[in-house]
Amino acid sequence: MLAEYSIERLKQTSPDALGDELERGEIVYFPTCPVPLPDPDDLVFLRDQLPELLKRKNVSYHPETDRVGLKGAPELAERARRILKKHGEHVEAFLRRTMPSLTKDCTIGTSSFRPIQEKGRDLSPHASNELVHIDAGAYGATDGDRIVRFFVNVNPTEDRVWATKGLFPELYQRFGSEAGISAQQRGSVSLDKRALDHVRTGFLHMLARAGLPQAVVIDSSPYDRTMRKFHNYMKDTPAFQQDMSSHREIRFPPFSAWMVFTDMVSHASVSGQYAFVNTFLMRLACCRHPNSAPYHILTAA
Ligand SMILES: [Fe+2]
Repeated sequence: MLAEYSIERLKQTSPDALGDELERGEIVYFPTCPVPLPDPDDLVFLRDQLPELLKRKNVSYHPETDRVGLKGAPELAERARRILKKHGEHVEAFLRRTMPSLTKDCTIGTSSFRPIQEKGRDLSPHASNELVHIDAGAYGATDGDRIVRFFVNVNPTEDRVWATKGLFPELYQRFGSEAGISAQQRGSVSLDKRALDHVRTGFLHMLARAGLPQAVVIDSSPYDRTMRKFHNYMKDTPAFQQDMSSHREIRFPPFSAWMVFTDMVSHASVSGQYAFVNTFLMRLACCRHPNSAPYHILTAA
């Protein structure tokens, strides 16, 4: 579940080894963050000044608009934009260097900072990070493409604590029917886009080209709706959250980093404050072990 890579081990790692770990459902853990971090005064700025400027649960830099969503002082938003953009570039360069096959044609998602303590946040169940779930959908329809998230704990003293209940294949086998997404329940309905889905996708991409790049966020597909149903089942079902048979807690110390296929590894942020989270969408066609991907597990059943 945890594949540990020290800086020393990383130097001897062959191309695609990290990508293979991700595809197996490992959390690739770096005791020392392998990408350069922002200057200490920029980290202090993010920790101390961002919470009061928050519009959402995170502060996110959106590469497609080159902007961050923050309220208030433009000079503070500009500083956050510069820091998050730079951090995103460092993470992207690291992923491209260490996972050349998997990152081919990948989509670069948001570069975010989470400034609020995860424990005890008053969020709706579907938005809560405290409940174990798998991720569904990122930047609209994934159509089976894989969601990678790269995290860095930049709290100088407090661990970031995660919980997991295991991997998609086992969870699908155990809870798929109860969630209403089993092969029998889906019948012969394909997970690929239908005519209406293609019309919607075409329209949303037209809006994006016309100056509304975030329009594609509301795009969907039968695969993404199936994964969303499973995500919602997990967060909405107390019995699932209370099932401890495969429950495990993982602690990430200050200034460690980790990356994971969040559509594969169930996860919850139990506690912790101040973390970078960078999202990428990797092409299913670029996976070296596609049969372990949720898309193929769902269609193979
Ligand atoms: Fe998540």
